[in-house]
Amino acid sequence: MKYNALITNNEKIAKDIYELTLELDSDCKPGQFININVNRPDLLLRRPISISDYENNRLKVIYRTVGEGTKCLSKISIGNKLDVLSPLGNGFPLVKGKNVLIVGCGMGVAPMLYLAKELSKDNNLTIILAYQKKELSYLTQAFDNLGNVIITTDDGSIGYKGNVLDYLKENKLNFDVLYACGPMIVLKNLDLKYRDIKEGYLSFESRMACGIGACYGCVINTKNGLKRVCKDGPIFKLGEVTYD
Ligand SMILES: Cc1cc2nc3c(=O)[nH]c(=O)nc-3n(C[C@H](O)[C@H](O)[C@H](O)COP(=O)(O)OP(=O)(O)OC[C@H]3O[C@@H](n4cnc5c(N)ncnc54)[C@H](O)[C@@H]3O)c2cc1C
Ligand code: FES
Repeated sequence: MKYNALITNNEKIAKDIYELTLELDSDCKPGQFININVNRPDLLLRRPISISDYENNRLKVIYRTVGEGTKCLSKISIGNKLDVLSPLGNGFPLVKGKNVLIVGCGMGVAPMLYLAKELSKDNNLTIILAYQKKELSYLTQAFDNLGNVIITTDDGSIGYKGNVLDYLKENKLNFDVLYACGPMIVLKNLDLKYRDIKEGYLSFESRMACGIGACYGCVINTKNGLKRVCKDGPIFKLGEVTYD
């Protein structure tokens, strides 16, 4: 659905990372995303950003300024309205009564907050928040009451020194279901490690055009053929995506 949503917050929370809050009455669930028109005539395509939190008609997203679109978004002030499509994508299936491992890496931490809030109602959570370094970390305390939180950084500036895959090699965690979001290389490694032994759900990214399933510009290879990340995903089961 298309909204003209009021911006109630758009603030920097870490190096090149912003949290945007919109007033929006949208029936959304964890793992879904919104598609934002950044309101510059030469930037025709909307920018997809995951829903990081949703409560009382306040929808939050967290984005990193990597190019023209996200830089333009970071300059839009509170009080303006933003043209967004919401909610898009399939979202994470929510399990009950399980030991759950949540892995968020880099910007992949953002969608895990809303997910962890929902899953913590019915499950025991272990949550790994993985960053390159301290200055790129955010939401480090937001998960504190939701489960057992482990922080990793590649350079050891906070938490465990090493990446999430190193951490999982060194530490045997007891879990039934995996949820992860992060760079493709991390998702691929988690998928290959756990696809035959665990239930799990991974959130993938792809360059998008329409964002609503019409153009097939965002397809990904799966064992059931090409699938649209925007419509059939962005969440795919462990073992569903093929990488060669
Ligand atoms: C389903 C989905 C959810 C996303 N959620 C988030 C989020 O929560 N927070 C966040 O910061 N970003 C998220 N992204 C990525 C975000 O959409 C891009 O960073 C953004 O569109 C870049 O726009 P830009 O105009 O600033 O950069 P551009 O000028 O378009 O590109 C700048 C750089 O970013 C890369 N890039 C652009 N789009 C993507 C993409 N879709 N996937 C991977 N790399 C891309 C380009 O290759 C280029 O290197 C998500 C993407 C998808 C598909
Ligand atoms: S972006 Fe058009 S089908 Fe996914």
